[in-house]
Amino acid sequence: MGTGFPELARLPTALVRPPPSARLLPVNRRILVSIAVVAVAAFAALAVVQPWSDDGDDASPRLTTTTSEGTTTTTEAPVRGEPGADGVGDPYFPALGNGGYDVDHYTLDLSWRADEGALDGVTTIEAAATQDLSRFNLDLSGMEVRSVTVDGEAAAMDRSERELTVSPAAAIAEGDDFTTVVTYSGQPMTVTEGTDVFDLGWKTDGREAYVVSEPTGAATFFPVNDHPTDKATYTFRITAPADQVVAANGLLASKDDVGQGTTSWTYEARDPMASYLVQIAIGDYELVEAGEVDGVVVRHAFHRSLAAEARVTVERTAEMIRLLAEVYGPYPFEAYGVLAVDEDLGFALETQTLTIIGADIARRGRSADVILLHELSHQWVGDAVSPSTWKDIWLNEGFATYAEWLFTERTGGMSAADSARRYIGNPGLDLPAGDPGSDELFSGTVYIRGGMTLQALRERVGDDSFFKNLRTWIDEHRDESASTTDFIALAERTSGEELDALFQAWLYADRLPDL
Ligand code: TRP
Ligand code: ZN
Repeated sequence: MGTGFPELARLPTALVRPPPSARLLPVNRRILVSIAVVAVAAFAALAVVQPWSDDGDDASPRLTTTTSEGTTTTTEAPVRGEPGADGVGDPYFPALGNGGYDVDHYTLDLSWRADEGALDGVTTIEAAATQDLSRFNLDLSGMEVRSVTVDGEAAAMDRSERELTVSPAAAIAEGDDFTTVVTYSGQPMTVTEGTDVFDLGWKTDGREAYVVSEPTGAATFFPVNDHPTDKATYTFRITAPADQVVAANGLLASKDDVGQGTTSWTYEARDPMASYLVQIAIGDYELVEAGEVDGVVVRHAFHRSLAAEARVTVERTAEMIRLLAEVYGPYPFEAYGVLAVDEDLGFALETQTLTIIGADIARRGRSADVILLHELSHQWVGDAVSPSTWKDIWLNEGFATYAEWLFTERTGGMSAADSARRYIGNPGLDLPAGDPGSDELFSGTVYIRGGMTLQALRERVGDDSFFKNLRTWIDEHRDESASTTDFIALAERTSGEELDALFQAWLYADRLPDL
């Protein structure tokens, strides 16, 4: 599906997947366990562990130890944690993400063995526990895990499907920071869960590589809390053959010859990012500096085979950034640019600060404007403000489609009202944009009916309220995730109107409403 021009008619889903089972959100409550008096009879010492009551909010429980000599010392009791949940409760993808912790920073140290199409990875995950944890999960699809440590100590691990379960030597207390290091290697696989149109994850022809992960592909190349509700900053340290170039989210911090004909590239992505938006590209790229727009660094990575054409295709980037800043407020990240790969992809993906486009789009020149505008707009809607669950995907695609209509309206083309009206009565849109189903995340209704929903809102509340609404949405939820309920609440607050019926009809009714 070409973005910007989603197909309305869809083929039936080729793969039948089991429906996501209903699942409760993880409960952070601890079960009270009374430890009976344990007496260790020995010549040297008698240790008595006294039962304590755990009401949750008190200071850490204390452990009183009485030796045979009668001296008493009080030390912190070991934490008795519970397992973190194996998902965050996404209604469409129950196994995505994990409970019990919140990641702050990932360091991906990846060596690309281009001759074998294989990766050697060391991923370091700095996180904070949100409950007492006896063990926790990471998402990882494929790859062979060699070792896991938590705070420097070897941890036990177990794998099943996309879940990597880590049991640290000692439980982790709620609120504590902890560092997990996973060492792994292998030829990354691709996955298709969440879309029947894209092959997701680490994509390679054996020599060059890039990633497209939305929604479930990130776990094919690093162990991750793979859900947009847990954003983190990233360091990428990518080692590749010296004749290849590496591009990634954020800005290049250093590039070093590390011997044996390899170069190590370090990129820092300082803005919190959802895992599905990670980009790493390795290959014959030209890195292009394109100045700054209002303090935002513009830089691109074009495959050398199409660099000249891609330069023309991205010419309006600065103009588009300024136009969208008028709509949504200041561009939300440190950098922006386009990664043009040498394969026809038929699509583009809004990887944070570095949108990926296929060769087909890179060669289109000006006729790619609306696609590039669509991906750029995702930096605000989707990237800075990410969906709370994958069911909320219209908050990405409906908004990005609406941005296309606004771009057309503001550059002398037809009004957004007319753009939206082209689709009235289209039977392909008799599918609720607010609940498309886990196999139809990127179907036409999510894009088009999602965009029409915003036009309906605009006509109801008026331009002042509508545009204030869009800016406040970004401002209030930037660097976080937000839900459809949050958006409806904001729209009601901004306009002072009761809008439940409008959103109900536009997002959840089977039939497409009339404008
Ligand atoms: N978000 C993309 C867009 O701009 C569409 C998309 C979803 C995609 N998943 C993808 C593109 C995976 C490439 C690969 O509309
Ligand atoms: Zn999109």
